[in-house]
Amino acid sequence: MIADDHIDPLTRLAIRHGTDKWGPHFYTPIYHELLAPLRDRPVKLLEIGVGGYGFRKIGGASLAMWADYFQWGTIIGLDVAEKQLNLGPRVTILQGSQADPGFLSKLAVEQGPFDIVIDDGSHVAEHVALSFNKLFPAVVDDGYYIIEDVQTAFWPAYGGSPNGGGETLRLAQAILEGLNHVEVRAAAANWSPLPGTDRIKSFRAYHNVFVVEKGDNSEPSTQNLDSGNSHVVGALALIEREMARAPTAAGLAHLGLMYSLMGQNQRAFQIVQQGLAAWPQDLWLLSLGSRVAGYLGDATTQIKLLERAVAVDPADPVLSNMLRQTREASSPIVEPISG
Ligand SMILES: C[S@@+](CC[C@H](N)C(=O)[O-])C[C@H]1O[C@@H](n2cnc3c(N)ncnc32)[C@H](O)[C@@H]1O
Repeated sequence: MIADDHIDPLTRLAIRHGTDKWGPHFYTPIYHELLAPLRDRPVKLLEIGVGGYGFRKIGGASLAMWADYFQWGTIIGLDVAEKQLNLGPRVTILQGSQADPGFLSKLAVEQGPFDIVIDDGSHVAEHVALSFNKLFPAVVDDGYYIIEDVQTAFWPAYGGSPNGGGETLRLAQAILEGLNHVEVRAAAANWSPLPGTDRIKSFRAYHNVFVVEKGDNSEPSTQNLDSGNSHVVGALALIEREMARAPTAAGLAHLGLMYSLMGQNQRAFQIVQQGLAAWPQDLWLLSLGSRVAGYLGDATTQIKLLERAVAVDPADPVLSNMLRQTREASSPIVEPISG
């Protein structure tokens, strides 16, 4: 529900041009929230499904809406039916089917790249997946691929299934896997994502709409904090700067932990020492310092730091156990004297 005086400009245009993107559906406020920042840019928008079905001179409502919304935009409509509509010089209508892989490949090459692709065509599950596979690679970084009427995923008449959502929800799963491609690979090195889906920045699901945002998705897996990764380099630089400006025990322990996870244990230990100089009783720093000293093969320091930790909290059974186990592991094996 939107109140009269809160109507957004896209919903106003939807009502004016008579598209079902508002009324039967509730999509335009979502679109406006998403696309308002692109409004004054010369975007290229492709919409599958012009509207009006077999009627040559009926349809084009959403294309007209987009042309008004994006005053510098180029709008391309695709429909399986022949259309004879004149929606102004910035709107082109092509005839072709989203069920035809050859046509879609040609469309991507000849008309792409696109800032925005909207699938409001047949809503047949197989076509939805095929169109995504063929056209998502033609979406620019920071662009969007939007699938409308996802409710059909559950409807057998559209090739969907009420038990699990059929091919459309399998596509959603592939999208989520692509979004998390580094995490899947961390567990299955030979796995590869659906083409192009390793450049998914976000995946939003609304009532009956999926929004896939394309863009950089090169953050590393938590299983593999790679020191050469630009996101890691940036994060470390930022944390280092903040810790130089306003150090805290927790911040330094966390920084030390990051270096340790990257295998840079000398640097991790320096940071821990810096922290312990200011917070000699901090348990996180003491236990991390002990662990890092262990990685560096310095059993004496490893034990000494654990002893300090146990002295701070003698009642903590985890710390006491760690100390006992570390002492046992480091004590030299005494050979029994035979004879
Ligand atoms: C719901 S209407 C589109 C409405 C329009 N986008 C709007 O919001 O005003 C769906 C359109 O998709 C078209 N269509 C159906 N199957 C198609 C296919 N395989 N390829 C391309 N368009 C298809 C239909 O002819 C119909 O005009």
